[in-house]
Amino acid sequence: MIHQLVYFSRNTVPGGDRAMLTNLREIVSASQRNNSRDGITGFLIFDKTWFVQILEGERARVTETYNRIARDTRHTSTTIMNVRDVEVRLFPNWTMGGAMRTPEMQEVYLQHGIGTEMDPARLKSTQLVALALDLQAFEQAKRQSQRLAG
Ligand SMILES: Cc1cc2nc3c(=O)[nH]c(=O)nc-3n(C[C@H](O)[C@H](O)[C@H](O)COP(=O)(O)O)c2cc1C
Repeated sequence: MIHQLVYFSRNTVPGGDRAMLTNLREIVSASQRNNSRDGITGFLIFDKTWFVQILEGERARVTETYNRIARDTRHTSTTIMNVRDVEVRLFPNWTMGGAMRTPEMQEVYLQHGIGTEMDPARLKSTQLVALALDLQAFEQAKRQSQRLAG
């Protein structure tokens, strides 16, 4: 069984998109290093206000990773929305995939009923997992077409 944890938190990274992306690159590189060591995969959705992250892996490793992330000062008010066991990983391909909300993704958000600002506190974890799966598909399709073009 795979343990899956969904949480959200408030993004405290100051500055605009640029500062966000620089910070995100640091987060992603630490995640890739640690998560591949720990057998963790998942997905990170973020905008200037929120992070939503899904962590999947062995229970102890997921708990350990979450506890480390929760201490990070780049976000605050980390709130666990759901923990459950799943039969297979829903985000198997990435040690930590991620998507910053951009206008090109608007359609995906709209399909999930999120027209304006996302407020994770008002959503169910299942809705956020469904959104993450579609964003994952969106990102994969984008990479695919970039590969074909290149
Ligand atoms: C929103 C958010 C998500 C993060 N996700 C992960 C993650 O999936 N894995 C991870 O190891 N670190 C993650 N981090 C970074 C950790 O908080 C921490 O900085 C890092 O694990 C420290 O790694 P190090 O001890 O190898 O330097 C995340 C941080 C934030 C703010």
